[in-house]
Amino acid sequence: MRHSRIAGLGFHVPDRIVTNDDLSRWMETSDEWIRKRTGIEERRWVEGDVGPAELAEPAARKALAEAGIDAAQLDLIIFATLSPDINFPGSSCLLQARLGVPGVATLDIRNQCTGFVYALAVADQFIRTGMMQRILVVGGEVHSSGLDISTRGRDVTVIFGDGAGAAVLTAAEDKDQGRVLLDHKLHADGSQHDILMVKAPASGLNPRLTQEMLQNGDHYPHMVGQAVFKQAVVRFPEVITEVLAANGYTPADIGLLIPHQANLRISEMVARLLHLDPDRVYNNIQRYGNTTAASIPIALTEAVAEGRAKPGDLVVLAAFGAGLTWGANLIRW
Ligand code: UT7
Repeated sequence: MRHSRIAGLGFHVPDRIVTNDDLSRWMETSDEWIRKRTGIEERRWVEGDVGPAELAEPAARKALAEAGIDAAQLDLIIFATLSPDINFPGSSCLLQARLGVPGVATLDIRNQCTGFVYALAVADQFIRTGMMQRILVVGGEVHSSGLDISTRGRDVTVIFGDGAGAAVLTAAEDKDQGRVLLDHKLHADGSQHDILMVKAPASGLNPRLTQEMLQNGDHYPHMVGQAVFKQAVVRFPEVITEVLAANGYTPADIGLLIPHQANLRISEMVARLLHLDPDRVYNNIQRYGNTTAASIPIALTEAVAEGRAKPGDLVVLAAFGAGLTWGANLIRW
């Protein structure tokens, strides 16, 4: 039986640090409010015209170097993002051009905060069937150029950050090699798409963007924060328990949980509900904010570099977000 293993990891964030005090100069908010409600202390925002493909390139090159693979050997590049560089073509095409590997297949995944979890599951299927051998999976986002930095947008704007993370998956015949993807569970509920969304520009509207929409701020993300929060703390434990149970495990078997970095309060509540000690849950939202599809690969790369995932550990990646979408990946490290 063929499996996929994570042969390389990498991440990249912009140099510019935006602190909570910086935000409170532009809108009515405070360091105290942001820390208390979200745990976030600072985030990285790009300067000038930088899109997610540009952030993803160094992340991808680091992951490829760790895997010992040349970009030209890739069979597929999967790019998970809710903030594509341009409307079309997808950011996977732009990243492929940056890596200079024409001919390599590309695929964009639009599953918001759950994008990387879905992307790993999709990549794993191509490798398990034998159709592909080496796949680059990226989560990359630039939020900062699409946020309302006035008081009107403060509930959403203070949580988001920019960044990119990448993993290189390769085919492994032997499960004991470690870093092997064991299973995935994926879910969605489109009936609630409107509790976290960007309304415009929209191809379902004619014209797609008007002066009035711009004045209303329809081109900025809108979130019913408490409704999202309440469902997150149910869906995270549910899908984590589901992927574990399907493989004969319980939360007590988790070596390391890497939740999508939505809000530190959500991660802490999930840990409590699953009876996990804090040292078995990795969080870095304090330094990067919520980077949606990029948050899991950034956190996984940092956690591994810090020695938080030991060989043989059961590692769970889990996410919940806009769509609504949620899911989890189970990995034997
Ligand atoms: O990753 C994708 C999925 N997203 C999430 O999982 C996010 C889930 N939601 C959340 O994390 C939280 O709902 C937020 C952090 C976004 C907001 O926290 P909250 O505790 O739910 O606040 P709220 O929206 O209920 O607002 C409470 C108060 C309001 O004032 P009043 O009406 O009580 O006077 C807001 O106007 O806090 C006010 N407020 C702020 N005050 C200072 C909202 N945003 C801010 C702010 N600074 N940035």
